[in-house]
Amino acid sequence: MLDQYGRKIEYLRISVTQSCNLKCIYCDPEGENCSENWENNLSPEEIEKITRAMVKAGIKKVRITGGEPLVRRDVCDIISRISKIEGIEDISMTTNGVNLYRMAKELKEAGLQRLNISLDSLKEEKFRYITGGGDFKRTMEGIDLALKLGMTPVKINTVLIKGINDDEIDDIISLAKDKPIEVRFIELMPIGSYGEKNADKIIRNDDVIKARPHLKYLTRTDKGSPAIYYGIDCYKGKIGFISPMTHQFCGDCNRIRLTSDGKIRPCLGNNGEIDIKGMLDLEPEKFDEYIRKIIFEKPRGHNFGEEYSSSRKMNMIGG
Ligand code: 5AD
Repeated sequence: MLDQYGRKIEYLRISVTQSCNLKCIYCDPEGENCSENWENNLSPEEIEKITRAMVKAGIKKVRITGGEPLVRRDVCDIISRISKIEGIEDISMTTNGVNLYRMAKELKEAGLQRLNISLDSLKEEKFRYITGGGDFKRTMEGIDLALKLGMTPVKINTVLIKGINDDEIDDIISLAKDKPIEVRFIELMPIGSYGEKNADKIIRNDDVIKARPHLKYLTRTDKGSPAIYYGIDCYKGKIGFISPMTHQFCGDCNRIRLTSDGKIRPCLGNNGEIDIKGMLDLEPEKFDEYIRKIIFEKPRGHNFGEEYSSSRKMNMIGG
């Protein structure tokens, strides 16, 4: 359906947990929110119920996020329920990949089509530093397995940080050479204290592109995607740039977010959120109407200006 600004809202991001098995420097390095009271989380049945109502309001595409979704034991049950809903055309997941090597097959069997995997360095030690202890080899094993299982295109998300991993840009781009991988560089956002305090560490995607004339602009095919894509001659994959800090793409935003504790957050960069967990007992018609109202009232755009401070860290929103 269309929201109040005429945007077609078709994409639901479902965070299934705020827990995470990594402690990335730009997310929640102290791990303050990396564990939770599991009882606060929506159950698979509740997630299914909300998603069914969302589909009636026009949602076609779902992404499972976290925290780290693979720390939730019943994640395959959730995926299997969602993938069976008539009207869902696309179901994917954003994960740090640490547990993929042992779960990818089961995820595929449950109906998961594609994966976005966070990968901020190709150097073991730096990877461990950025992720607060992550195992680089295991993550790469998971990426290879996803490719082998045909869960493609595999998208790699890299948050570039000045002085930390900007020496690896070309090596990371090379991941797309021989494999159907889409490498996407995301500008550091002021979500969590690291991003708030380190605005000077933002790498502007325009500068990355300008310095690499071999990148060829690709005409946009998916207007709802915040990434602008470039190709390189003879490369199997492509290179995407997500630039929330230097380009506003809110006018094309087609998404809405469900948090693991049962709130709808209609905009990543706006602290407004609406309770949905407490509304699950409404009569079906009233519940559907409630959801339509939330979608309709999605705010115009994010508040990543000087004054903005996110009430939730990224692991409590789901990216
Ligand atoms: N700025 C930019 N990207 C972030 N992510 C998490 N926190 C931030 C931040 N402060 C990225 C993760 C993940 C995606 C969902 O969001 O790396 O790939």
